[in-house]
Amino acid sequence: MCGIVGYIGKRDVAPLLLEGLQRLEYRGYDSAGIVVNTPKSPALKVVKAKGRVRELESRVPKRFAGTTGIAHTRWATHGAPSDINSHPHLDADNNVAVVHNGIVDNADELRAKLVADGIVFISETDTEVITHLIARSQADTLEEKVREAVKVIEGTYGIAVMHADFPDRIVVARNGSPVVLGIGEKEMFVASDVAALVAHTRQIVTLNDGEMATLKADDFRTYTTSGATTTATPETVEWEAASYDMGGHDTYMHKEISEQADAVDRVLRGRIDDRFNTVHLGGLNLDPREARGIRRVKILGCGTSYHAGMIGAGLIESLARIPADAEPASEFRYRNPVVDPDTLYIAVSQSGETYDVLAAVQELKRKGARVLGVVNVVGSAIAREADGGVYVHAGPEVCVVSTKCFTNTVVAFALLAVHLGRIRDLSVTDGKRIIEGLRKLPAQIQEILETEEDIKKLAAEYAEAKSMMFIGRVRGYPVALEASLKLKEISYIHAEAYPASELKHGPLALIEPAMPTVAIVPDDDLLEKNRAALEEIKARSGRILAVAHREQEKADHTILVPKNEDELDPILMGIPLQLLAYHTALALGRDIDKPRNLAKSVTVE
Ligand code: G6P
Repeated sequence: MCGIVGYIGKRDVAPLLLEGLQRLEYRGYDSAGIVVNTPKSPALKVVKAKGRVRELESRVPKRFAGTTGIAHTRWATHGAPSDINSHPHLDADNNVAVVHNGIVDNADELRAKLVADGIVFISETDTEVITHLIARSQADTLEEKVREAVKVIEGTYGIAVMHADFPDRIVVARNGSPVVLGIGEKEMFVASDVAALVAHTRQIVTLNDGEMATLKADDFRTYTTSGATTTATPETVEWEAASYDMGGHDTYMHKEISEQADAVDRVLRGRIDDRFNTVHLGGLNLDPREARGIRRVKILGCGTSYHAGMIGAGLIESLARIPADAEPASEFRYRNPVVDPDTLYIAVSQSGETYDVLAAVQELKRKGARVLGVVNVVGSAIAREADGGVYVHAGPEVCVVSTKCFTNTVVAFALLAVHLGRIRDLSVTDGKRIIEGLRKLPAQIQEILETEEDIKKLAAEYAEAKSMMFIGRVRGYPVALEASLKLKEISYIHAEAYPASELKHGPLALIEPAMPTVAIVPDDDLLEKNRAALEEIKARSGRILAVAHREQEKADHTILVPKNEDELDPILMGIPLQLLAYHTALALGRDIDKPRNLAKSVTVE
């Protein structure tokens, strides 16, 4: 969703900012804009455009020189996508320019007051309120003006502000929407996502909620919204600019699917302890005594991360024998949940920014719960808010739909389950068995990826379906859910996922030749039950594509995957179905990396 990038230094700012916006495109947006402080009057020059960053770029005039500027990609919340509603928002005198991520909850009320005072609004956005509040402030410094404004705003914001009377600085503030400073040599950057910074600097400072910063070309300082100085020590981000490139693939999704063997290797690295047949997780902040005291585990996430959490719950329950379940974070926060002191809460998020997950974590913390994060982006909001956690080390994921991060998240849960299990009742033999299974994963993933051509042929056969059914039982059910989500997200084919056991309680009515079923059929204790479901479908003339460890006679096609330990099979069975969704979408000519109506990080409600 919305993205911010800003620069102050000696270089020509417009190309830098446009490149930064391109790096943020993956988040999803509908319009973009840029403002530059030029030497001529009026100092602040702005260009905005509905549509893609390249549309904005084509509108930037040749003479647009300046060395300070801020830019934005917008995902419409208040007011439709349009040139006028795009950020930056300026006041009538062109003195103040603001870019904003988040939502001002009391915008209507503030707007009414400003209108009553004679201020004329030109856009329908909540952000314009912030611009006018800053512009009419009588304070002497820009910092003070911004501080006055943020004191009256309710809601979430990450903002960057420029002022014609203070051309030597950019002032930024954060409450709920990420703001990251990039520290360069006699130049400073600001962005809402490190993706926009890593081409220029890997030294970053992440602001906390309630923090502000002033950026000058050769200096920065951070302080609270009440003015108290804070200490900010730059950290080095491990992700390099090259990891955001497509690396010879046609889409980010294909690149990310293909990277999974290496990604899984990374999440395992340095964490396995062969001496005790267990797993070390440095950031958990949970001592063995506390781990023994956990009576339940509740996992919260959204979208694909929720599905990864479902598999994670199964792993924790079977390996650590702690009752565990997963729930969409978006639902959890609104049902006034009973928060139990002996429950371990785990928030799952690739981005570490998803608002529904963050809000659930904040609510839990407020009620005194212990919350861990299973997160990909180091230093992200959810990672910082949690008491501890496990980083999934998948590397940057750019495609809107999640693939390698899903797989790595499930592996991270397997590690956590072994860790908790070995503190509790998982035997040395079982610990060793699972660890050996985990070590086999990268090579087995590679083996699956090498069957891509076969899966592509199958995708061509199933691409004309209007609707598809996905079924799986127990461990296989979240795999079915995730595979069906992947297909609908990028191919726009309607797909349903059901537990195989529920088929006869309703969805069987849908089965006919035009409604193919993808069935997850692992070679485990439920094999015969799953085969019975295939019989039921075949008896209704349904077409079946099975994902299995051995050929399934009832299926029209079987995708064979290598066998691992029963508990770890779901990790492998999802991978060919990512490729199936990918090639189906490709056959249908879809915009795979940027599916319609979806954003990578949903930072608003
Ligand atoms: C959005 C994306 C999904 C993603 C979900 C959760 O809806 O389109 O692909 O699974 O957010 O994102 P997170 O970053 O919290 O894992």
